[in-house]
Amino acid sequence: MTEMFPVGRPAAAGDVVGRQEFIRECAIRLSEGQSVMIASPRRTGKSSVAGEVMRQLRTQGYGTASVDLFYVTSIEELAVKLLASLLENRTGAYQKTIRSLHGLQEWLNHTTWHAKLGDLELGLTLTAPILDPLVLLETAIATAERLAQSQGRRMIILFDEFQEIDRLGGENLAQRLRALFQQQHATAYLFLGSQPSLMQTIFADRRQAFYRFATLLPLPAIADVAWER
Ligand SMILES: Nc1ncnc2c1ncn2[C@@H]1O[C@H](COP(=O)(O)OP(=O)(O)O)[C@@H](O)[C@H]1O
Ligand SMILES: [Mg+2]
Repeated sequence: MTEMFPVGRPAAAGDVVGRQEFIRECAIRLSEGQSVMIASPRRTGKSSVAGEVMRQLRTQGYGTASVDLFYVTSIEELAVKLLASLLENRTGAYQKTIRSLHGLQEWLNHTTWHAKLGDLELGLTLTAPILDPLVLLETAIATAERLAQSQGRRMIILFDEFQEIDRLGGENLAQRLRALFQQQHATAYLFLGSQPSLMQTIFADRRQAFYRFATLLPLPAIADVAWER
């Protein structure tokens, strides 16, 4: 049973049942530069769908990065995880275990990656200590746009469990992020959230930072027939 119906993590490539039309629509919108938000309760299949969207976009040649905010405990960790995931587009290696700027610097100093990063690293100025975690996060977000422009392709960033932004930095962080995101031309965002009411507030309340920033797409049911095969 476990082999036939693997559970406990998002469905892997080839295991995603149904929702193909929805996955295609998400991928098209993101590839055109539109940001998208999907809110539905836990274990309804958001991460599985998003994983498939990101795989398809990567195959089509887009740059991709993902951060799951559920396991992130600080703004610094969010910044570092985003940077590590972005740099994966260059190095091909993603270090999930990196949680601090120090850890990231140690990893970057590893000679193999050093050479591959080339000019990008100069732009990052990670050699000098960046003490303010918010500045580090701004650097990470700016890196997304820089990478996209230098590689001549759009960058798509997935933020899973995005409602956690509230816990990490409240309204102040949300406003900062929105201000940075909306200046970008080559980066689009896919936001997932497990608390629909909170996500509705963040994205659909006009007093909130993310008001009208992303298109809210309802997660469709999986058709019975999709399970047959
Ligand atoms: N489209 C799908 N096809 C097959 N299994 C799925 C699909 N969507 C979800 N699942 C299963 O349900 C579980 C929960 O899905 P997940 O994508 O993690 O939901 P969420 O991100 O909404 O919490 C996964 O571990 C996976 O086993
Ligand atoms: Mg999930």
